[in-house]
Amino acid sequence: MSLILGIETSCDETAASVVEDGRRILSNVVASQIDLHAQYGGVFPEIASREHVLKIIPVIEEALKDAGILFRDLAAVAVTHGPGLAGSLLVGVNTAKAIAFANDKPFIGINHLEGHIYANWLESAVETFRRNVSTAENQFPLIALIVSGGHSEIVLMRAHNDYARLGHTLDDAAGEAFDKVARLLGLGFPGGPAIQKAAEAGDPNAFALPRAWLPGTHNFSFSGLKTAALHLVKSFGNAPLPVADIAASFQNAIADVLVEKTLRVAQEHHAAQILLAGGVAANTRLRAQMIARAPVPVLIPPPKLCVDNGAMIASAAWWHFARGEQSGWDLDVVPSLRLQNTDDRGQTAVSKEQ
Ligand code: KG4
Ligand code: ZN
Repeated sequence: MSLILGIETSCDETAASVVEDGRRILSNVVASQIDLHAQYGGVFPEIASREHVLKIIPVIEEALKDAGILFRDLAAVAVTHGPGLAGSLLVGVNTAKAIAFANDKPFIGINHLEGHIYANWLESAVETFRRNVSTAENQFPLIALIVSGGHSEIVLMRAHNDYARLGHTLDDAAGEAFDKVARLLGLGFPGGPAIQKAAEAGDPNAFALPRAWLPGTHNFSFSGLKTAALHLVKSFGNAPLPVADIAASFQNAIADVLVEKTLRVAQEHHAAQILLAGGVAANTRLRAQMIARAPVPVLIPPPKLCVDNGAMIASAAWWHFARGEQSGWDLDVVPSLRLQNTDDRGQTAVSKEQ
């Protein structure tokens, strides 16, 4: 039995979790800064890192207490070292190094996007989709759609911890588009949950908003959709804004593109399953559409494991740990770290910065 402490401070959540053997969550503590940043309509980097400095030790203490363990019971300490905000990542990485060093434990740096994917292998995620699991778990190749506030990527996995990035966004990330359109509609921050809520009372086909299919590539672009939403809002002038219908139409357009493009890649690469990951994977319409339309099993973490947390970092780290891999004390933060260690033909490639 190996207990890994996973620490996550890449953006605006200070999070720590203890996970047993990559799957069983013993504790999962998340201190969100949403209220602090809401007044700016987005994450304010310096405030984020200062808040991590204040919260990191209490959050880790709570995670150990909830799990009923001491530092000496840990097999390893894992932490997100990119991508993310440099000042925020530094707090987590230095704290993790200090804990690992002082307790003579292996230290493992994890790619945040890899963490999002591994939320799918946590026990509570697996339970949610038990009907798929007996056949789907550990089946490769698989296609992962990672959609968060900073990323929209389609990744091919041929084995655990093996990634080939096949598509990415050319401009805004899906979550960023949700956040920006929510601001246009006066719905507040973070925009994803607010749009989802407003959309419940709206007609998803009320307005025809554009879909950027970008034929011949697996890439995404959401800036045209965002601009179309802006023009639509302006077209109402001083008349009352049909917020619910716009929110529903926007959510429909974005889910449509994400689902359709993921299904195409999955078909092309004969994927055995599809995984959804990242904050936007909490979106009910995206989840429902993907499950309804996919010809192969779809795994999606429960909503609270889709958004940033430490359990997903501990889970991803376990698969590295099990192979005897660990990071050096010279591990740096890499704000634009990419998720790619093989190219799409399965050749090993060096993981580069963007
Ligand atoms: O993965 P995450 O917690 O942080 C990043 O790594 O970026 O994702 C946050 C993003 C935000 O843009 C938020 O608006 C979006 O995920 N999000 C959602 C939903 N819940 C969170 N987007 C759509 N629908 C949701 N229910
Ligand atoms: Zn994230």
